[in-house]
Amino acid sequence: MKSVLVLGAGTMGSGIAQVFAQAGFKVFLRDIEINLVEKGLTTINKNLERLVNKGKLTLEDKQEIIGRIKGIVNIEEAQNVDLVVEGIVENIEVKKKVFAELDEIFPANTIFATNTSSLSITDLAAVTKRPEKVIGMHFFNPVPVMQLVEVIKGVATSEETYQTICDLVRQLGKTPVTVNEAPGFVVNRLLIPMINEAAYLLMEGVATAEDIDTAMRLGANHPMGPLALADLIGLDVCLAIMETLHKEFGDDKYRPCPLLRKMVRAGHLGRKTQRGFYQYTNEN
Ligand code: 3HC
Repeated sequence: MKSVLVLGAGTMGSGIAQVFAQAGFKVFLRDIEINLVEKGLTTINKNLERLVNKGKLTLEDKQEIIGRIKGIVNIEEAQNVDLVVEGIVENIEVKKKVFAELDEIFPANTIFATNTSSLSITDLAAVTKRPEKVIGMHFFNPVPVMQLVEVIKGVATSEETYQTICDLVRQLGKTPVTVNEAPGFVVNRLLIPMINEAAYLLMEGVATAEDIDTAMRLGANHPMGPLALADLIGLDVCLAIMETLHKEFGDDKYRPCPLLRKMVRAGHLGRKTQRGFYQYTNEN
């Protein structure tokens, strides 16, 4: 594999594009509007700049990495790609439409991976004529830092596709874990209900946001508290995952916290809107 198309230049897409480019791949980074593509490229540039300032990367290396990423709006500009990694909005209908379009554009040997955080790989594979080449490749935020990639097999994913993607994850310097498709996979099935429960604690007035987070940092040695983590992930993403768990399992223990719902309705989505459980400025 030499060349990758990353769909979606948001938090996850730009991080994924960065790690592929750092591992020597030619990367097309695509979003639906040029300003979104440019925003993604700016984030990558800032991240690499930070590594240069720390002496972890030379300026020449940085230029080479940036040179390997081409921002595009028109998907057809992505020529000869071996793999597409989809990191667009967490909505099954939108994703299905995109997968059906990709299936028309790319040759039958191109692998389609989705970075979905909880949706069904099998559902997405079913809209293509290559279900054996569709797989989940679930990265974690911040992508350049987090070591794990969940590799999720849909019902029809072939052993060959699975092995190719596991090898690729190692080539990126990350560790794959194998997951058989199930709502929320492994990490989000554990992590997001914890965040949801933290939102209940806050809503019920059991403790302040700061104290809930301090409790989990110092009492469970988590690198950041659940509410700060929710702000990092995005409250809309957390809610979408809780809704998937609730719908798929039908169990009341997965009911999204009304406070989480209310904050998403208000547009308080966390760091990306500078307001979530905490307030942010551009600097933090
Ligand atoms: N992009 C790139 N690098 C970043 C970064 C970012 N957004 N944020 C931090 N870093 C780097 C820093 O530059 C630093 O690098 P260095 O070691 O080379 O100096 C390193 O990460 C550590 O950062 P800091 O010293 O600033 O701060 P911390 O030590 O507190 O680490 C953290 C920050 C890595 C975010 C840490 O708090 C952490 O691991 N938090 C938990 C993150 C987590 O659980 N992510 C998973 C979310 S779930 C998910 O993504 C799935 C999805 O489907 C919802």
